[in-house]
Amino acid sequence: MSPEGYYVSLGIPGEHAVAAKMLVSMFNWQETRVTLSMLITAIVALCTAVVVAMAVHAASRWLRVRRKSYGKLRIQLYERLYGLQWGDLTTNNYGFAPAEGEGQERFQLQMYKELYKLLCARSRPHSHTRLLEVSCGRGGGLSHLLKAWPGSSSAVGLDYSANAVRFCRQAYGHIANLAFVQGSGLELPFADESFDVVLNVEASHNYGDDLAFFREVNRVLRPGGMFLYSDYRRPELVAPLKQTLREAALDGEFYDITKHVAEACRLDSDRRRQLIRACVPWYYRIVFGKELANYAAIKGSRKFEAFCSFQRHYYMTFAIKADHSRDNRPAVAVVAAPQDAKA
Ligand SMILES: C[S@@+](CC[C@H](N)C(=O)[O-])C[C@H]1O[C@@H](n2cnc3c(N)ncnc32)[C@H](O)[C@@H]1O
Repeated sequence: MSPEGYYVSLGIPGEHAVAAKMLVSMFNWQETRVTLSMLITAIVALCTAVVVAMAVHAASRWLRVRRKSYGKLRIQLYERLYGLQWGDLTTNNYGFAPAEGEGQERFQLQMYKELYKLLCARSRPHSHTRLLEVSCGRGGGLSHLLKAWPGSSSAVGLDYSANAVRFCRQAYGHIANLAFVQGSGLELPFADESFDVVLNVEASHNYGDDLAFFREVNRVLRPGGMFLYSDYRRPELVAPLKQTLREAALDGEFYDITKHVAEACRLDSDRRRQLIRACVPWYYRIVFGKELANYAAIKGSRKFEAFCSFQRHYYMTFAIKADHSRDNRPAVAVVAAPQDAKA
């Protein structure tokens, strides 16, 4: 039967049969169009979701790789640096001025003395303290601090650089309560709650993951243990850093010491220039002269200018790991306010 015959058989007059057929087929076409457009919308939404998920995954992977490779590159540079002959040099930080004493490393040691003062202003250093310095370099700061600590305290210095740790073991091997291990600040090779005080000077900016580092500090500190910390960052990164410290359950106070560090760099520039001339091979100096001056923050270098113009903030921190067993008592006795304004 023809389509028109079918409509006529349904009682639709012949002259309307063709129009009726067109109407029905139009109606079907509309339905098909609606179904098709829904299908296309769903496919487009699915593809968009897949593309967005892939982009997010790729971005986070890229960030992770970038962080890791940044840290790895830094570690390789330090290994080379500590592989050079630095004589009896024992410290490697920008220093703090004014400094007590006369020694050639007085500004660098002063950085450690200031951290100790900060601790004394907040708490009373106990004998039998178990100290850990993460990134101890050539160990001068830690050994100096241990001498100042009362009673029979002990200390462990950790650094990623095998050359630095080798030097430390040779230089301080005769001190019974001072040991050195090689390891990463992001995976400390120590049991939970095994230290009373953790120290970290001018190193964490190399690690590439502040939160992972602070969590490790929290893990190895006993409840109520203290974290003495100094480093530098771009100004806009200091507030997020404070937040990250809180996230790792370390309750800290930040003090801006940028002007003291810039002054130490200015006063110590000649010595740093001479050290580079005496200890770094000439071919490195020719190729990397500017980078070396910058690394040492010698007068006129970008790093020195950045400190002077506060494009880098150098801060010092005293933080404490919450002790929930002492919730009704203050964790530390506040003895005096530190000399500088809070950052
Ligand atoms: C600027 S030096 C400071 C050394 C020492 N705190 C001082 O003031 O003399 C930074 C140190 O961080 C160490 N370091 C870098 N990345 C590290 C990591 N992921 N874990 C442990 N140490 C690291 C380097 O080997 C270097 O000794």
